[in-house]
Amino acid sequence: MTQILEGEWSRLEQLRERFLAPFGSRTADYWSDERLCELYDATFAQRIAWKWSAVLAELARRGRLPRAESVLDWGCGTAIAAREYCAALGSAGAAMPQRIHLWDRSRAARAFAAKKLHEVAPQASIETELPGPSTTIDLLLVSHVLGELDEQGRNQLLELARRARAVVWVEPGDSSISRSLMELRDQLAPGRSVLGPCTHSATCGLNQPGRERDWCHFFAASAPEVFTRADWREFSRRLKIDLRSVPYAYFALGGGAPVAAQPDTIRILGRPRLEKGHAKIDACDATGVRVLRVLERDAKAIVKGFADPAGLGRTYRITTEKDRVRTIEESQLSE
Ligand SMILES: C[S@@+](CC[C@H](N)C(=O)[O-])C[C@H]1O[C@@H](n2cnc3c(N)ncnc32)[C@H](O)[C@@H]1O
Repeated sequence: MTQILEGEWSRLEQLRERFLAPFGSRTADYWSDERLCELYDATFAQRIAWKWSAVLAELARRGRLPRAESVLDWGCGTAIAAREYCAALGSAGAAMPQRIHLWDRSRAARAFAAKKLHEVAPQASIETELPGPSTTIDLLLVSHVLGELDEQGRNQLLELARRARAVVWVEPGDSSISRSLMELRDQLAPGRSVLGPCTHSATCGLNQPGRERDWCHFFAASAPEVFTRADWREFSRRLKIDLRSVPYAYFALGGGAPVAAQPDTIRILGRPRLEKGHAKIDACDATGVRVLRVLERDAKAIVKGFADPAGLGRTYRITTEKDRVRTIEESQLSE
């Protein structure tokens, strides 16, 4: 982490207040200078990187990581989404994109983002403009922008999301942002395949009547240095952020026709509730979201693993008897 001087903590605190401000009140550009971008990139953006890393690893594990020659990171900030995407491609041994567009209403953010992205994707042509109307967008990346959009920004983004062949959109895992994201997922999904987190391309089960109080969210693992380094401890203390818990929400859409839902395959939402001798899980599949019980005596290792929700970025094949899961195993690749 870059060294943060005493007088700079207040800059991060002001950013945090801005991020926590209610919807609709965050419409002005706040990237005043390169140093603020640098401070953000070393702290908040790293936390966002852990979420992207979890999302992209899940998509890769499921054989669904979108490949792209042209990418647009919209509302890019310091381009942490594009950088994490390039890192995931590298881990998968896949070809890097040829052209990456970085777009943000802030000129300072775009310039900083281009510099950082060039460090990890030196071969790519990096453009700090939106792609022209006839330019193909293979993949649109969107990260942590929903809380800041005015109507014009939202319309522009949705138009791009309809135009892009694939979309990966990651947001914080709090209830209101996640519920907005779930609505967008249902608006954008018809006629396309949902790559994740869902196991199906039908309507989101939590958008069914009666589920208004629930929201689709997951937990990412923080980087190990968070637990050993004094600067992260200081960041956590000053900014009042619990770095052990990294909730996020996301959806990923592909271009092709919807893939058929796999029978008996679920994605577990949120955090399993561990009770004596069993765990309760929120299991999502094409039929909706239901609460199921997994008994320790039926699946000891898996129930033990539920203690760490960051390990749940995968799908499971199950058999059930009423609300009891009889068998559960991780489902294999190539869904
Ligand atoms: C919380 S930051 C997230 C930045 C980055 N995507 C990330 O995940 O670290 C939100 C970003 O959205 C940008 N933004 C907000 N409204 C926008 C709009 N209408 N058009 C383009 N960018 C916008 C802001 O300038 C800011 O960089």
